[in-house]
Amino acid sequence: MEPILKIEKLSHVYSPGTPFETTALRDVDLDIYKGEILGIIGHTGSGKSTLIQHLNALIKPTSGRVLLNGRDINESKQSIREVRGRVGLVFQYPEYQLFEETVRKDIAFGPKNMKLPAEEIERRVLEAARFCGVEEELLERAPFDLSGGQKRRVAIAGVIAMMPEVLVLDEPMAGLDPRGREEIMENILSYHDETGAAIVIVTHSMEEAARHAGRMAVLEHGTVALSGTPEEVFSHGEALRQMGLATPVMTDVADKLCKLGVKLPGTVYTVEQMVDALMALEGGRADAS
Ligand SMILES: Nc1ncnc2c1ncn2[C@@H]1O[C@H](COP(=O)(O)OP(=O)(O)O)[C@@H](O)[C@H]1O
Ligand SMILES: [Mg+2]
Repeated sequence: MEPILKIEKLSHVYSPGTPFETTALRDVDLDIYKGEILGIIGHTGSGKSTLIQHLNALIKPTSGRVLLNGRDINESKQSIREVRGRVGLVFQYPEYQLFEETVRKDIAFGPKNMKLPAEEIERRVLEAARFCGVEEELLERAPFDLSGGQKRRVAIAGVIAMMPEVLVLDEPMAGLDPRGREEIMENILSYHDETGAAIVIVTHSMEEAARHAGRMAVLEHGTVALSGTPEEVFSHGEALRQMGLATPVMTDVADKLCKLGVKLPGTVYTVEQMVDALMALEGGRADAS
């Protein structure tokens, strides 16, 4: 399968030639496929935010390229405009970027910039509000009037209103309570499931990544240290621990059980999978007896 976005030997150096010079990314190769959910994990400072800001040409590679359907996104003004419409980027704490006087205007900002006809803008505002669980009665309210979770959903709706083929989110659940985290994740998943868009999600939570991502990339010191399915990534428990990243609690429990001689079938990283594995074990014993 051809990737929709291809990151090739991407390096990024901040403030080159000054005492503040920082190499944030070095020689990163990573592909993003149509319709997949890719989780990006890594310690603070590992380069996650720098990496994803390259995906819609918000910042430019120091060297290397980002290709959208085989074409360098930084090739021309035209290619930059195109990628901005097709790859939507939700910043960390995006609610700080709400600035219009009503929720409706804030969600409409992106589609308006795309110069879409008025009725199409209206259709997209309502559609994006629905995906993000923003009730219609909120549309005429001022954004600053809303709760933290509501503001976050309005900000995400503003990007979804551009109907991106790739939706990229930088720690979209950060700072919310468990209920709020769950709701945001459901919003993102409903956009993914209904439109077939690819989702790239930066998260601190191994469980969240494992539960939802088909593939994960682990960044360390600006390089991709590990990538693959969650099972493949979590099979490198020691390497993850050395990077200061915890494997999911249930994966650790499964490891401990294994050392005690209880071998669970398959890889376990969520509570649900632990329950299934224990049930299967129990079933196996019942069959044997
Ligand atoms: N605007 C910037 N100017 C200078 N250095 C930066 C800037 N943004 C990030 N960095 C540095 O680049 C490295 C990677 O940061 P970042 O991409 O924000 O990582 P993460 O999102 O994984 O925490 C860090 O060393 C950070 O201090
Ligand atoms: Mg970051």
